[in-house]
Amino acid sequence: MKDLFNKFRQDKGPLGNYADVAEGYFVFPKFEGPISNRMIFNGKEMITWSINNYLGLASHPEVIKTDAESAAKWGMAYPMGARAMSGQTEKHEQLENELAEFVQKESAYLLNFGYQGNVSIIDSLVNKHDVIVYDSDSHASIIDGCRLHQGKRFTFQHNDVNSLEKNLERATAVADKTGGGILVITEGVFGMRGEQGKLKEIVELKKKFNFRLLVDDAHGFGTLGKTGAGAGEEQGVQDDIDIYFATFAKSMAGIGAFVAGEKDLIQYLKYNMRSQVFAKSLPMPMVEGALKRLELLRKNTELKDKLWKVATALQKGLRDAGFDLGSTNTVITPVYLKGDVPEAMVMVKDLREKYKVFTSIVIYPVIPKGMILLRLIPTALHTQDDIDETVKAFSAIREKLESGVYKRLGEEFMKRMRK
Ligand SMILES: Cc1ncc(COP(=O)(O)O)c(C=O)c1O
Repeated sequence: MKDLFNKFRQDKGPLGNYADVAEGYFVFPKFEGPISNRMIFNGKEMITWSINNYLGLASHPEVIKTDAESAAKWGMAYPMGARAMSGQTEKHEQLENELAEFVQKESAYLLNFGYQGNVSIIDSLVNKHDVIVYDSDSHASIIDGCRLHQGKRFTFQHNDVNSLEKNLERATAVADKTGGGILVITEGVFGMRGEQGKLKEIVELKKKFNFRLLVDDAHGFGTLGKTGAGAGEEQGVQDDIDIYFATFAKSMAGIGAFVAGEKDLIQYLKYNMRSQVFAKSLPMPMVEGALKRLELLRKNTELKDKLWKVATALQKGLRDAGFDLGSTNTVITPVYLKGDVPEAMVMVKDLREKYKVFTSIVIYPVIPKGMILLRLIPTALHTQDDIDETVKAFSAIREKLESGVYKRLGEEFMKRMRK
């Protein structure tokens, strides 16, 4: 028999194994100052492209004021209890009603975190007779929800409707035997590559197959559609999304999430989602803060227009400079470069230290080996100067990458690390 802890003394996990070289810089960076287009990192001001504060609401004066006043009035504990026990207030219900109306659904229910929410929505909707079919690039919260499922589950190739169709045929054969139903799960916007889920095409398949559709619209909510109601509104299929999910962690610049759909569905989820039945409800400042954010998001559609103006200019600037942005059709701006992990690390360090540009970095296994993805998240607060400086900086680091400067520095860096 072994000590259970032996495992992690030998293997700290795919990210944890890099902690010694990465922590505090590539992972767990500490930003200082108000959440904005430029923030302080390691004592230096940098153009910050790594926070999903799409509409700039995180530092909006009315948001700050509401959050502060609400915290002063209620503290951070009230109402203190699970919704079904002692955690219910009229404000929670008001927020749900306003969210439902905004995303054009009958009813909505709050979730404490999007992650737990997704896990619990999926868990409560299926039993062992049902079949789940979900996109292979799904967010961890969807994957983890599917992991709890005791029946069959199939993945379809990322955003590939033919692959979905094939898997729906398999799923139908299974469900016909078990007497269960089918749940299809995709995202409104895929957060890494910035592609919209092919909701229109997926909805078309409802004519051929019997399934219910769950859409995680974390990145679409507030950024897409005429009113900001998300990817379904953008693609004209909001009514065909049976279970609509979004988090407050992006456009709403907060904490919490919600699920929306027909009344009976929400009533069922309210009594059966274990993450809500067995956990405390959102504290009042989160709820009042979310009401204020929703009001601003609804009233000030110019924030979304500004976001898109920034994103379009950024993407044009980078494309004109010859960068590969893959197939993004949202504001999320991925820049694909070729290189190995040590090269990526020294390049990103240079980008931050010399050029004062902060982006997230994504490497294998999230994307294929030999690729580096620098992901830029534009917000309504970024300026043309931010864009111009960033495009210039990207051109400079690409030149060094292609001439082998980072390869050499990366090898030296790894040698030092091994010593
Ligand atoms: C697509 C997607 N779904 C779910 C979540 C989880 O949401 P939360 O941060 O509210 O737990 C995230 C990240 O925030 C996300 O990007």
